[in-house]
Amino acid sequence: IKVLSVTSECVPLIKTGGLADVAGSLPSALIPHGVEMRTLLPGYRQVLAAQPEAETVFEVWDLFGGFARIRRGTLGEGKQATPLYILDAPHLFDRDGKPYNGPDGHDWWDNPQRFAALSLAAAMIAAHGIEQWFPDALHLHDWQAGLTPVYLRELGAAERVKTLMTIHNIAFQGCYGPDMVQTLGLPPQGFTQSGFEYWGQVSTLKAGIMASTKVSTVSPTYARELMDGAFGMGMEGVLAARGADFTGILNGIDLDLWKPSYKSPKGKEKFKAALREELHLPDSDGPLCVVISRLTGQKGFDLLLEALPTLIRRGGQLALLGSGEGYFESAFRDAALKYADVAVRIGYDEAFARRLIEGGDAILVPSRFEPCGLTQLYGLRFGTIPLVSLTGGLADTVIQANPAALSAGVATGLQFTPITTAALEVAIHRMCDLYAKPKIWHQMMKNAMAQPVGWDTSAAAYADLFKEMVGAKPGQSE
Ligand code: ADP
Ligand code: GLC
Repeated sequence: IKVLSVTSECVPLIKTGGLADVAGSLPSALIPHGVEMRTLLPGYRQVLAAQPEAETVFEVWDLFGGFARIRRGTLGEGKQATPLYILDAPHLFDRDGKPYNGPDGHDWWDNPQRFAALSLAAAMIAAHGIEQWFPDALHLHDWQAGLTPVYLRELGAAERVKTLMTIHNIAFQGCYGPDMVQTLGLPPQGFTQSGFEYWGQVSTLKAGIMASTKVSTVSPTYARELMDGAFGMGMEGVLAARGADFTGILNGIDLDLWKPSYKSPKGKEKFKAALREELHLPDSDGPLCVVISRLTGQKGFDLLLEALPTLIRRGGQLALLGSGEGYFESAFRDAALKYADVAVRIGYDEAFARRLIEGGDAILVPSRFEPCGLTQLYGLRFGTIPLVSLTGGLADTVIQANPAALSAGVATGLQFTPITTAALEVAIHRMCDLYAKPKIWHQMMKNAMAQPVGWDTSAAAYADLFKEMVGAKPGQSE
């Protein structure tokens, strides 16, 4: 089965969040399941610079105001390598700044055109083939790829080529004014409630939800939550209406990329000592807790800021790496000035993120909502015990250290609910109690390190879904 993945970010080339990790690791994970996945990615400056050899294999004369080429590059290396198509459209992507916003932090004014171009290019590849390669299905990630099935219909290829719309975060809906119907060349008859119209605007995410063959999200619990008003952010009705065509498939992580250099809990000690030294943190009897995150409302750090005195009082420490909203950045900077046991680095730093996971005793993810979450998975793999809120993918990946799970030897972390400061404080106390009993804590670390967090099961689930979509038998490879 041939599938084209359509994504706005992809590890190791360009990343703002977990979507890049997923888009970067799923294609090679699908190889053993008989799915040949290729990837289409915008030709941001960083991407083209990293793939200087990429040759033109497709041309589009006028893609929203300029000439565009699709170049053929490579994702990954060796046996893991898969083909990469880079949408080289300088008028849309050759700029300083980030994928979605400029150096001033504001969204690019032409984001609708930029990602409509990605979607239209995907539909053209589906309709016309590329290098004699004709995809059976398209895997569409988030609002940036949401218009693809609409263009696919316009090009008359929607019967032949199936589409899976995957929602990584319902908070981002790609909403723009109604003038976009014309600007983006969308069919006016689609601007209705049963199409891509959303409260008087165009929503590219809704377009994908309504017009794709199947819809998925990145964990089973988030799939259930999304059909509820408390989490659906307005999309709950249209998602519920998709019925059995809407499912949750848990994210996996790349086990080669995220591989601890130690095999037993004791092996962490030297990394922890090095981390404390790097951050000038004093020695302590309590757990060294780490955070690696975007600092936004989604992630629940207002709760952590309020619970910080409790953690410190119990002898715990915090080492945080993140960037995002100014309020959180300065609140954590202030906390680092106030407490010797708190170290904060504002910024984006992959090597440092890794040292935090290697050296930390626990990783904190107190999110208000979390479609899947990846840092708790890295934590599990490295025996860095996750302390998480009970929501979305966090609920699906952590086994709560309650008395029954502890005595059965399966506990891997701590969960708190409801998502309040008081409940977080209870979990912090419980974590510190468990940490004070090295035998139990080490057992939890072992359980965590043995928990399967790779792609195996989920890659098989995606493969079966693609096969069902294109009418092949599940489980069969080709
Ligand atoms: P989200 O996609 O909502 O941001 P995830 O947990 O799914 O959350 O993925 C976040 C990814 O981004 C992880 O790979 C995490 O390690 C990485 N990350 C987040 N913030 C930083 C940072 N400041 N420096 C380095 N990596 C970061
Ligand atoms: C989104 C979600 C995160 C998820 C990631 C990858 O950014 O916020 O929970 O892990 O996508 O699917």
